[in-house]
Amino acid sequence: MSERHMKLGAFLMAGGHHIAAWRHPDAHAPAGSDIDHFIHLARVAERGKFDMIFIEDAAAIRERNPDLASQAARSTAFEPLSLLAAIAVNTSHVGLVATASTSYTEPYGLARSFAALDQLSGGRAGWNLVTSASELEAENFAASGLRPHSQRYERAEEFADAALALWDSVEEDAYFPDGGETFADRSKLHAVHRHGKHFSVDGILESQRSPQGRPIMVQAGASDVGKDLAARTANVVFAASQTKAEAQAYYADVKSRLGKYGRSHDDLKVMPGISPIVGATEEEAKAKYRALQELIPDAVGVALLASYLSIRDLSAYPLDGPLPDMPPTNLIQSRQQLIVDLGKREVLSIRELARHFAGARGHWQVAGTPAQIADAMEDRFLDGAADGFNVMAPLFPSGLEDFVTLVVPELQRRGLFREEYEGRTLRANLGVSPPAKS
Ligand SMILES: Cc1cc2nc3c(=O)[nH]c(=O)nc-3n(C[C@H](O)[C@H](O)[C@H](O)COP(=O)(O)O)c2cc1C
Repeated sequence: MSERHMKLGAFLMAGGHHIAAWRHPDAHAPAGSDIDHFIHLARVAERGKFDMIFIEDAAAIRERNPDLASQAARSTAFEPLSLLAAIAVNTSHVGLVATASTSYTEPYGLARSFAALDQLSGGRAGWNLVTSASELEAENFAASGLRPHSQRYERAEEFADAALALWDSVEEDAYFPDGGETFADRSKLHAVHRHGKHFSVDGILESQRSPQGRPIMVQAGASDVGKDLAARTANVVFAASQTKAEAQAYYADVKSRLGKYGRSHDDLKVMPGISPIVGATEEEAKAKYRALQELIPDAVGVALLASYLSIRDLSAYPLDGPLPDMPPTNLIQSRQQLIVDLGKREVLSIRELARHFAGARGHWQVAGTPAQIADAMEDRFLDGAADGFNVMAPLFPSGLEDFVTLVVPELQRRGLFREEYEGRTLRANLGVSPPAKS
């Protein structure tokens, strides 16, 4: 029996992670704006004893060309913090991780919103810090367009430090220290004074100290600066890896950076994505996958592929030919490399790459029986490739329901996953230490 338990996240979306999920007969097309859809998914994840549910975000419509209703149909139509506040009062144990950008918000406002979610949920809030790599977002906020990758991270570093200091500006029992005689204990309030290149903060967070003290910090950086920021400030890092070797390399790389920040191996949980397709038999699982693949119009698959490459329009190249050479992208550098490597390694044409990629956008895809999926997860968990997984069901709700009903009991039977929640807060269930003072 393994002592170490996997950590599981449920990456929620509207129809599902498969690009054509919303066209599937089982999908509920307008799910993205249906709160009951998300409350149901959160309760399914909680029934499966998941550590967290995760809501991605970009502050922009997802497609320049809405006809290519691909990414748009997947995304939630709710701003994540508002959505998770509603889910907080409809659940009791599952962690609530919202994505928010350091490029288009300010530290004080965002620190306050996450402290509020942590209070509303009794200590289950998490922040997926992103620098926002999409040009469509930049057009909504900055006439000067998308900042260079390095500048986005310079701002993110300063932002994270200011937010951490603001959460620490209020100690426990700072207010009503003696049950109401006095309003505040000044010695437990510490004004922040930070004047950096991007932000100026002078003040105390207008909030009680939240149950976790600080929300859990999540990131998904894959570049050098991204991994360093995660190693310095994050409790959880999401990743996108195809092969076991890629996952092991990313795991070893991020963990090797912890020491220089005085952090230990278990302070940061590495959770790569997995897109599982569960069937009672392997053939049934493969048939489910084929059914989804058949729903992908070529143009949609190729457009999605192009959105991760530095080539605006791939349709100029023969679909059955290889990817052309291209300059590095200013968007998500790691995903571009992953696609180019995949195309070369498996000698895939643009059409084949588009179909392969459209299923899980470069994340690890596994189709099989509950035991086969548990085998694959156990192998990476026990062999230095993951501390847990971000489960990206290809189709909602059935894909997550199948995983919780069929795969979770298999992981529990093997002693790889919890039978009951360890604590009340996300921090306690993740097993990451309380925050040291900033
Ligand atoms: C599982 C996962 C979820 C992500 N979610 C978001 C998101 O919601 N919004 C966003 O702007 N970027 C998101 N990203 C992109 C990352 O934040 C990051 O930009 C990307 O991994 C590239 O790393 P880099 O920023 O270090 O170049 C996600 C990445 C991964 C792997």
